Amino acid sequence: MSPFTLSRTLPADATAAALRADVADGLTRTPKQLPPKWFYDARGSELFERITRLPEYYPTRAEREILVDRATEIAAATGARTLVELGSGSSEKTRHLLRALPELRTYVPVDVSESALSLAGRALLAAHPELVVHALVADFLTGLTLPADTPGPRLVAFLGGTIGNLPPAERAGFLASVGALLAPGDALLLGTDLVKDEATLVAAYDDAQGVTADFNKNVLAVIDRELGADFDPADFDHVALWDAEREWIEMRLRARGDLAVKIPALDLAVPFAAGEEMRTEISAKFRREGVRAELTAAGLEPRRWWTDREGRFALSLAVRA
Ligand code: AVJ
Repeated sequence: MSPFTLSRTLPADATAAALRADVADGLTRTPKQLPPKWFYDARGSELFERITRLPEYYPTRAEREILVDRATEIAAATGARTLVELGSGSSEKTRHLLRALPELRTYVPVDVSESALSLAGRALLAAHPELVVHALVADFLTGLTLPADTPGPRLVAFLGGTIGNLPPAERAGFLASVGALLAPGDALLLGTDLVKDEATLVAAYDDAQGVTADFNKNVLAVIDRELGADFDPADFDHVALWDAEREWIEMRLRARGDLAVKIPALDLAVPFAAGEEMRTEISAKFRREGVRAELTAAGLEPRRWWTDREGRFALSLAVRA
């Protein structure tokens, strides 16, 4: 029996079709926009790993501090036998949970990046040979089905603050679908970055070394490779700004001059005016009351709230009643 399996919940070409649809739609709107999930090819995933080690990017360290300090409490509150991790990436944070969950049998990492999944899955199995790892290449935002062998109680972890990448309406739909996926007694562990001073927030998305700029521009390289487009990343500047009203960070790419980009796979020519900005990501920041309200609206009962010592980031535990 192989303890590591990897499967797709979507046909292999669904990813390509979704990229085409997103690019065709997003680049013909005003203002232009692209969804952040297309950052994460092999290079993008590697750039994101570098971001998590930058001095300015505090969320990963703050969340890790909570996981290390609270793993035993989290484990005791859930007794999970199956851990489902949405957007698992390198699964680095998962180690702390795995160590604390003695009942755990099955780990289901879910990610859009197959390269990240197989690297992380195999590394994890080396450390926990007793686990069954069933990796899923899936877009958990558009409907998730769990593999057959996922014994309860289940803990679904959505860490890193990635929920902040969804605009509020999509967030509500996503949380409702997670609520529907859970059986009574199952739980959701949710990581949310918190509202704080603007300088700290903007620096986290506009680091001095320019790693986040390269990460942002990587979406152009993905479109070039997958759709035969002729974006030149050097034609764009990285922009990170704080929207104080909506309480989210926005990343944009700003055209350095007038451009006409060709996208042969879509039979599309996309004009950019000098200075035009295209939105590539929102990263919402949260407050305790807002998280509580959103969980409750999704049919989940908020049970615990933990922050790091500096109060920068929070983990919430909510149970399906
Ligand atoms: C992985 C989605 C949580 O929004 O902070 C990092 C991605 N973007 N730097 C975030 C990201 C720019 C990150 N998430």
